[in-house]
Amino acid sequence: MKFFIDTANLDQIREAHDFGVLDGVTTNPSLMAKEGISGQTNIQQHYVDICNIVDGDVSAEVIATDFDGIVHEGERLAGLAPNIVVKVPMIKDGVKALKHFSDKGIKTNCTLIFSAGQALLAAKAGATYVSPFIGRLDDISTDGLSLISEIRTIFDNYKGLKTEILAASIRHTMHIIDCAKIGADVMTGPLASITGLLKHPLTDIGLKQFLADHAKASGQPV
Ligand code: E4P
Repeated sequence: MKFFIDTANLDQIREAHDFGVLDGVTTNPSLMAKEGISGQTNIQQHYVDICNIVDGDVSAEVIATDFDGIVHEGERLAGLAPNIVVKVPMIKDGVKALKHFSDKGIKTNCTLIFSAGQALLAAKAGATYVSPFIGRLDDISTDGLSLISEIRTIFDNYKGLKTEILAASIRHTMHIIDCAKIGADVMTGPLASITGLLKHPLTDIGLKQFLADHAKASGQPV
């Protein structure tokens, strides 16, 4: 399973990268706004800054919602760095644009996926990734993990289908573990959801004991 971090915060991206387990980054307009990034020039520079930290795929979301606008904006974003993935919303013109980008060899991430039918449509149009939002489904008492499972079943029926399932809107470590059990290809979540995987009290207790025993055997003060 690939690990992406879901943020536009450069410090957190650096920290995840230095941790050694980072495969990519996803952003969206809300995450960019949270960092106070606005205006075309600043937004583009911010994507370049992210791509200078991370070698793996970096999703950059278009703002346009019409076909010509999505294509124009997406091609400009794709030109910023070789690892940019153009993030396109699940709307009719977005699907058309996915096909256009796919034909041109530009990688895409179809975002705001909330049903298996939407995922199938995006895959048919040649999306590199589909992003089902599991946390937002859980928020409205709908099982987000079931959606990942349904899409996995469908995609596995067609071996030639190259689209990867990117489990998005991850909120905590259990989402990551459950997505890995189901076989999501990628997960994207906040830094805390990734570092949270480290934690187990028995690890802490065990390490403390090992170090104490070593110190005792070496005649060092415990
Ligand atoms: C990532 O591609 C999505 O935009 C993101 O995971 C959405 O997460 P949220 O539901 O926590 O905003």
